[in-house]
Amino acid sequence: MYKTIKIADGIYSVGCRDWDIRDFHGYSTYEGTTYNAFLVLGDKNVLIDTVKSTFSHDLLTNISRIIDPKKIDIVISNHSEMDHSGSLPKLMHIIGEDKPLYCSKMGEKNLRNHFNSNFNFHVVKTGDNLKIGKRTFNFLETKMLHWPDSMFTYLVEEGILFSSDAFGQHYAGDLFFDDEIGDQIIPHAKKYYANILLPFSSKVQALLKDITKMDLKINIICPDHGIIWRNNPSKIIKAYAKWSKQELSDKAVVIFDSMWESTAKMARAISSGIESENVNVRLMNTRKCHRSDIVTEILDAGAVVVGSPTLNNGIFPVVADVMTYIKGLRPQNKIAAAFGSYGWSGEAVKILNQMFSEMGMSIVDDGVKVQYVPDKDDLEKSFNLGVKIAETLKEKLS
Ligand code: FEO
Repeated sequence: MYKTIKIADGIYSVGCRDWDIRDFHGYSTYEGTTYNAFLVLGDKNVLIDTVKSTFSHDLLTNISRIIDPKKIDIVISNHSEMDHSGSLPKLMHIIGEDKPLYCSKMGEKNLRNHFNSNFNFHVVKTGDNLKIGKRTFNFLETKMLHWPDSMFTYLVEEGILFSSDAFGQHYAGDLFFDDEIGDQIIPHAKKYYANILLPFSSKVQALLKDITKMDLKINIICPDHGIIWRNNPSKIIKAYAKWSKQELSDKAVVIFDSMWESTAKMARAISSGIESENVNVRLMNTRKCHRSDIVTEILDAGAVVVGSPTLNNGIFPVVADVMTYIKGLRPQNKIAAAFGSYGWSGEAVKILNQMFSEMGMSIVDDGVKVQYVPDKDDLEKSFNLGVKIAETLKEKLS
């Protein structure tokens, strides 16, 4: 439960905070999250999105603080994923299942599948309007941002964009607006982009172009997670424009794990080689750094360097976890290199190079593999690999 949060005249945030969640299907949420929902009062009262089912009581309490939930006339579902639709069955039961539920075509299909429900669906597509009194709700499908059903609802007169997951952040705190929290929210937004929207970057670019072409006046952005962008919504739009370009940068991420410190020594030597060429480096041990934080660093890096010892003819399990995760998020425009120590068979470097190829990364070198413990020559080779990675990156950037 929390205080009534007014966004504009007759428009309220009525969602809830999930203070405890630390793992959002594989994404580390160190500061919890919020499930935002929005109440728009008028000739007809409209609720935009709901919250995770376990928080339906909070949603209903927050609505009750403003109006009797039974007075909700219309529900809009921008996105059917359970963190935003989980409370729909309970809500519809209370307000009446005959009340209109607006969603995209895929939204209807998903909601029927999720809840085996027969709500009073009203399917909308891009350009459709819902006129209620002095307000116009305009719908914009945003397929694959990040689900096939995703859509935005734009309140024309007030210039308020209800953007579903886009422009969100997994953050639960005592602040609710961008002007209250300032730039400390940006790392949360960046992590959200890297872990949720990165594979759809070309669609983000297309969407931003469409928004510019449509000349939408956006005064406030209300995402379904995190703070509301009411003071400077262009800040997050500009950040999305930058992140979605995935331009090369002079930063390398060295990701590794180690059994007996051999691969770790190589990782440090490679990092020193990279830094000796004035390229920024992040050294990330896969047992110390969460996969979602690693991907966040990769978002604006130019080089991905991965080290693994050979274990049972394969790569180390934690490294495999991170590589699988990176592959799914499809980062673009990266150069890559592999390294690792081994005892007798030494397949890890070859396997990592194969994975880089599958991800479309440009491999700068066959990599460095060392039997058992790296000696002075091996560490020099590792350092030189770092130099080569940095030089390649600088050449591409020039
Ligand atoms: Fe926040 Fe795609 O759900």
